[in-house]
Amino acid sequence: MPAKILKVRHSRIAEKHATICGMSNALPHISEDLPRIRQLDEASINRIAAGEVVERPASAVKELVENALDAGARHVRVDISDGGKTLIRVIDDGCGMRPDDLPLALSRHATSKIDGSDLTNIQSFGFRGEALPSLGAVGRLSIISRASGFEGSQISVSGSTLSPSKPAAFAQGTQIELRDLFYATPARLKFLRTDRAETQSILDVIRRLAMASPSVGFDVHDVSGGTSRALFKVLPETGDLFDALHRRLMQILGKEFAENAVAVQAERDGFTLSGYAALPTFSRGAAVMQYMFVNNRPVRDKLLIAALRAAYSDFLSRDRHPAAVLFVDCAPTLVDVNVHPAKSEVRFRQPGVLRGLIISALRHTLAEAGHRASSTVAASMLGAARAETMPQQGFSYQMDRPSGAVKAANYQFHAPQSSETEAVFARVNDIDDTSTEPTPEKPQEHYPLGAARGQVHENYIIAQTRDGMVIVDQHAAHERLVYEKLKTQMQQSGVASQALLIPEIINLSADDCGRLMGVRDTLDSLGLSIEPFGTGAIAVRSTPAILGDTDVKALVLDVLDELNDQEHTQSIKDKIDAVLSRVACHGSVRSGRRLRGEEMNALLREMETTPHSGQCNHGRPTYVELKLSDIERLFGRR
Ligand SMILES: Nc1ncnc2c1ncn2[C@@H]1O[C@H](COP(=O)(O)OP(=O)(O)O)[C@@H](O)[C@H]1O
Ligand SMILES: [Mg+2]
Repeated sequence: MPAKILKVRHSRIAEKHATICGMSNALPHISEDLPRIRQLDEASINRIAAGEVVERPASAVKELVENALDAGARHVRVDISDGGKTLIRVIDDGCGMRPDDLPLALSRHATSKIDGSDLTNIQSFGFRGEALPSLGAVGRLSIISRASGFEGSQISVSGSTLSPSKPAAFAQGTQIELRDLFYATPARLKFLRTDRAETQSILDVIRRLAMASPSVGFDVHDVSGGTSRALFKVLPETGDLFDALHRRLMQILGKEFAENAVAVQAERDGFTLSGYAALPTFSRGAAVMQYMFVNNRPVRDKLLIAALRAAYSDFLSRDRHPAAVLFVDCAPTLVDVNVHPAKSEVRFRQPGVLRGLIISALRHTLAEAGHRASSTVAASMLGAARAETMPQQGFSYQMDRPSGAVKAANYQFHAPQSSETEAVFARVNDIDDTSTEPTPEKPQEHYPLGAARGQVHENYIIAQTRDGMVIVDQHAAHERLVYEKLKTQMQQSGVASQALLIPEIINLSADDCGRLMGVRDTLDSLGLSIEPFGTGAIAVRSTPAILGDTDVKALVLDVLDELNDQEHTQSIKDKIDAVLSRVACHGSVRSGRRLRGEEMNALLREMETTPHSGQCNHGRPTYVELKLSDIERLFGRR
């Protein structure tokens, strides 16, 4: 059987080969008449190469804009018609080309960017010298260019037929026009999507390049049908690089991203990581706001995306995705960009080092910003509250999630509480022996989260700080505290367990029993000890002490769910963290439980000393802060 499949495949390849060589596709030809090897003509070579470089209008735009950036342009203008299918025009004010270089620009493997002596040290976007000849093979290409100190000149190519260059009037820089893309290869045309979709891909390319070059201005217009419609515009940014990037991101990704993002900067073993990462409270329903750059080149790299995901795994549930714009810089020798013709894939020499850097840098940055989650949410809440009285002005940024304020308003709290949570709560308070007892000299108000003044709706603690107030979601906060404690215990000597007086027997499918028994040792270290109990059941002997008197069956089923979800997670640590996060939910003070004043203050003090306490395990904020000045604004006093 396999031999037969092999044969069929073989003959297909032979057939294809025969057609490529321009012969009839009758197989016998090959054996009767041995095929001769011949050099393909320039036009065919270019067309084959174009297949790799130019997949769609957006890839042509990418090549042309990258050329403009390589030429040192300060401003790039892009005009497109019909999704780039009938016209792509890129105009830049870069260094331009000398008249006698124009024909060379269109010949294959001719480039001004490298001399070929060192492919390991590439600093420009381009270096293959392939884009222009490829574009000339699949569309009608014309170039007007002028370098400083030279006359302007013009050249055009259609179907790889070059017209002689002639003088042309032009300011310094280059204009490259590509009309009727793929007119010579109608098969390609069929694969193009709607004009709208192609336009979106083009804008995506431009957005990425514009993030990588904040000092360059970009202007994109749709000029279909003789009209001109602005699609995208950013002015060149000046000043400090980080600030310039921040302003650029604000324009491209929106104010909300910029306000919720924290600056990332870290270095390790020759890699530098910089950029902006959004707080977990600003997460998205899909991985749409993740932009990665390697040596300023936009890339879509699995390694980088996986590292980003891992860095946030503690703060986000699996259906939420972090938003971040990250730049990795390293010596060109540490990364190979010559893997793919479009250069969107790269290969790192030390992927492990880079992954470690990304994860630790992001975790560290987010931990430091842990207490910021709240105030930015408060800002949007303030906006929402004010919107009722004032007409909204300016842009509105569309998000695929409700703003923090709307979400907070929609939280539903039920679950009348049993007295067991009281015990849990007391326990959590005395576990953390490092928690700072307020000394009599320091009034509670002087702590960051202030002095508890009361509790509303059985879940929200209102506290007064020196210059404002905070509202704490006690359930979310408590869940985070329990989780952090479980993690600390885990790192030290395993989670403290408490034996059940009577082991609890839980009936499960044989599969589920097997799955649980397979990770018995790990569960043991998490404070959950189980034993097989006949077929189709397990006996639970002990549970994590921190959970107190918990619903054992619900806990085990939840852990099981988590194990099923995590089946494909490679790292044991990720698995453990995910299970711990689930376990933590079982130990949380649910809403609906009244707290005494000292209990509330103890919770606030504990939050202050616990890392990441600004958000719960699902990326929601645990508290919001309103400054007195904000409150005054709410009441129109300012
Ligand atoms: N916008 C431009 N401004 C100045 N020179 C350009 C521009 N576009 C292309 N060139 C010149 O044409 C050459 C060939 O371009 P291209 O085919 O894209 O190859 P590569 O970018 O890999 O060098 C470049 O090396 C550069 O010298
Ligand atoms: Mg190029």
